[in-house]
Amino acid sequence: MTSVPVPNSSILNISPYIGGDITPPGFVRRIALASNENPFGSSPKVKEVIKNSVDRAHLYPSGNATDLKRVIAAHHNIDQDWLMVGNGSEDTLHLLARTYVGKGDEIIFGQHAFGLYQIATYAVGATARIVTRENFNLSPQAILKCVTDKTKLIYLDHPGNPVGTYLSKADLLTLVKNVASHVLIVIDAAYAEYLEDRLDYTSGIDLVLDYPNVVMARTFSKAYALAGLRLGWIYAHPTILDAVNRIRPPFNTSSMVQKAGIAAIEDQAWVEKTKKHNATCRPWFESEMTKLGLEMIPCYANFSMVNFKDKCADVYQYLGKGGIIVRPMGSYDLPSYLRITIGQTHEMEELMELLKKYYR
Ligand SMILES: Cc1ncc(COP(=O)(O)O)c(C=O)c1O
Repeated sequence: MTSVPVPNSSILNISPYIGGDITPPGFVRRIALASNENPFGSSPKVKEVIKNSVDRAHLYPSGNATDLKRVIAAHHNIDQDWLMVGNGSEDTLHLLARTYVGKGDEIIFGQHAFGLYQIATYAVGATARIVTRENFNLSPQAILKCVTDKTKLIYLDHPGNPVGTYLSKADLLTLVKNVASHVLIVIDAAYAEYLEDRLDYTSGIDLVLDYPNVVMARTFSKAYALAGLRLGWIYAHPTILDAVNRIRPPFNTSSMVQKAGIAAIEDQAWVEKTKKHNATCRPWFESEMTKLGLEMIPCYANFSMVNFKDKCADVYQYLGKGGIIVRPMGSYDLPSYLRITIGQTHEMEELMELLKKYYR
């Protein structure tokens, strides 16, 4: 028998990522509440820019995404030379591991953390050290206990996905102050826009200047509604960016995406509408779920984590057949939970009607 190429052994430890785009047999995809996308779609200004970008499709994009970085920097009042953009934040999160972590090193992240962290860890041949959560919460002390002399990087989903909790400002500072400065702390604030009004939350943007081992990662996939276009960015000390940029594919964001990102940032009214809707619809939905006797993990992003206990698989099937796709959480070791993205009001009302019928 002829031999076939064998992948690196650590690659075969990776369980392939299962996304929210799956429509199991018998399901109808009418209302998609499985991937924490923006239920209103992209801003009309973004759509316009996409249409107008077609004429420049034959030209290479700016490899440094200079205009986009200038607009992101101005919006957040930070230095554009401290920014790097990527093909979704997943791209930047992978690049950080590939730049700083190798075989035999360790990467720390929380129990039930965003699935990409495990993939990025095994992809570089490193070992994952998983921090146990207490009542779904991480603590700086629990994270610090996992740090060893092999630790190279900490991924902190902040807030978590699918566990939508976060470290308070004070706890985040305790963590950052006490982690050895050779360990890279990657604060993944993918959902930060939804928490801006919470006084005890910071995305970490205020820590990057003072702590050169802290990186903040952000995405345009959630509040900015560009999940399909793929755009994310990191804010980090230029020494870190200098290293990461050496392996970054030079054109990892297209010209259309860069322009769409600028238009999305410039349309803050669209982002505000999204945030405002989420801030009222999620509490309403969660209080309705409580009336049905269902428990939830306290989540602070654009989704709810509902414990359907022994009915979970059945509810998932029932909703899917009724046209509403939500996300089962078995692969996150939370088999009795469904993660439900906060959709538009009429979508959530329809979901509630179905659930009320189910529990009647
Ligand atoms: C915590 C977290 N980080 C990063 C991402 C990835 O975002 P992107 O679409 O920019 O790759 C997600 C997507 O769901 C997420 O939940």
